Amino acid sequence: MGGQRGHFLYSTVSTSYDPCVMAAAFLFYCCVTGSLLSAPFANAENPYRFFTWRVTYGDIWPLGVKQQGILINGQFPGPQIEAVTNDNLIINVFNGLSEPFLISWNGIQQRRNSWQDGVLGTNCPIPPSRNFTYVMQVKDQIGSYYYFPSLAFHKAAGGFGGIRILSRPMIPVPFPPPAGDFTILAGDWFKASHSTLEYILDSGRNLPFPDGILINGRGWNGNTFAVDQGRTYRFRMCNVGLTQSLNIRFEGHTMKLVEVEGSHTIQNIYYSLDVHLGQCYSVLVTADQPVRDYYIAVSSRFTSPVLTTTAVMHYTGSVVGVRGVPPGGPTIQIDYSLNQARSIRWNLTASGPRPNPQGSYHYGLIKASRTIRLANSAPVINGKQRYAVNSVSFVPADTPLKVADFYQIQGVFYVGSIPDNPTFGSAYLQTSVMGANFRDFVEIVFQNYEDTVQSWHIDGYSFFVVGMDGGQWTPASRQSYNLRDTVARCTVQVYPKSWSAIYMALDNVGMWNVRSENWARQYLGQQFYLRVYSPANSWRDENPIPRNALLCGRASGRRTRPL
Ligand SMILES: *[C@@H]1O[C@H](CO)[C@@H](O)[C@H](O)[C@H]1NC(C)=O
Ligand SMILES: *[C@@H]1O[C@H](CO)[C@@H](O)[C@H](O)[C@H]1NC(C)=O
Repeated sequence: MGGQRGHFLYSTVSTSYDPCVMAAAFLFYCCVTGSLLSAPFANAENPYRFFTWRVTYGDIWPLGVKQQGILINGQFPGPQIEAVTNDNLIINVFNGLSEPFLISWNGIQQRRNSWQDGVLGTNCPIPPSRNFTYVMQVKDQIGSYYYFPSLAFHKAAGGFGGIRILSRPMIPVPFPPPAGDFTILAGDWFKASHSTLEYILDSGRNLPFPDGILINGRGWNGNTFAVDQGRTYRFRMCNVGLTQSLNIRFEGHTMKLVEVEGSHTIQNIYYSLDVHLGQCYSVLVTADQPVRDYYIAVSSRFTSPVLTTTAVMHYTGSVVGVRGVPPGGPTIQIDYSLNQARSIRWNLTASGPRPNPQGSYHYGLIKASRTIRLANSAPVINGKQRYAVNSVSFVPADTPLKVADFYQIQGVFYVGSIPDNPTFGSAYLQTSVMGANFRDFVEIVFQNYEDTVQSWHIDGYSFFVVGMDGGQWTPASRQSYNLRDTVARCTVQVYPKSWSAIYMALDNVGMWNVRSENWARQYLGQQFYLRVYSPANSWRDENPIPRNALLCGRASGRRTRPL
């Protein structure tokens, strides 16, 4: 780590909290709710779901060789979280590993509550033999997401699991209830341990090509999904891998796309679907073929060689197992993938978490007040392979940025330590934090000058993917934007030597991680934090620090709530 740390510059902001207001509000919540942990985050009208998770190492054999996996309650992948819009999730995570650990929640927006985001910029790691209780609400969300371990290279050992948020009972869903609701967590996999992979990256080298693809923690035909002929099933498919885009196919069947990271889509039919790193899609598959077993094939995309693994779709009554080779998919064709991405559109008349939120505002009618252009690069810094955004390669600080911000601890980071536009200057290490104003509406252009596919995720938000195309983005590129019916999602791909543009309403105060979902790139610096700031310092805009927050680094020994 190391690198030059900038000096502290909070010149534009005043973070003084009014002690009288805070004390009064604090007493109010203590008295009214009687519970310090749940106050004031959770909404008492909505159900609470309690989870106790024990994180341990355990032996797994996903590719036939024994590996040390990260298990949650003995499971790999971890247990699935089933929730309904607005539920409160209380998840007490006990760290049974011999090293610090954190879980983050991909796609869960943590409204006003980046305290629960579970990345190193917002949370102190859970030390070995200790626990931390995440308290969060899946406010105004539906859809398919996943959780994963965010520290070190733990994701290469497991520790991930699915999250599904169902619509509330009275909210119409734009398709009949499926006969079954399955989750496919797929991703590339290495036989090397997470610590070996981390060592490779720490010593300045790139990861090798992965050894295989896993579906729900298993290799070739390791999963069977049982279906009845004539019925329709929902498959929620996420790419939880480390380095590769995936393509998914159902032998002899088509997929009807219905949901993308919380947006109900126009229900197009696909024979194969690209799922880039960190992305999730829901499709409906109707078992409308003769009774037998069929392959579900998942392949690496844009690679040579192509890695493939399969699961089995087993029709009830079938006595014929899968036969022959699984259906092939596209390999290196970029245009095909780009066209497919553009075909994914929002169903403007379908409801989301509320009956008709589209009526209240439309993204295409708002003028962005700021354009941020982010270019990824792969510089060598101090003789080591790094990855960077606008020439800044992120290095973590000794104190979570959110925590340092709250206690006004100087010198941990400074706002404005990453430029809004590519500089093309030589790359450097920095704890990079970009400042932004609460309620601004911004345009972000991801510009990829490299020849590999990128995948970008923004915590705390869902954004509108207004355009993507080859070449260099210019203001004229806006003429091609879809300002009518693109989907809102939280992870977007950028094709080689191409750009992708998003619109985002900064309606969530907090410290939010903007990162590559390629885990080697993320680990080696292709990320930063977006500090969305409200000068009001009001609990209406942002929850106060949780009373159970772990404190570390330069915040060790502080008290979580001033009184
Ligand atoms: C650890 O778990 C206990 C219950 O076993 C709970 O009371 C406590 O709040 C948890 N610690 C944190 C930091 O959340
Ligand atoms: C959009 O949603 C509506 C309302 O649920 C549904 O009736 C319609 O079929 C959907 N349209 C498409 C093209 O998927």
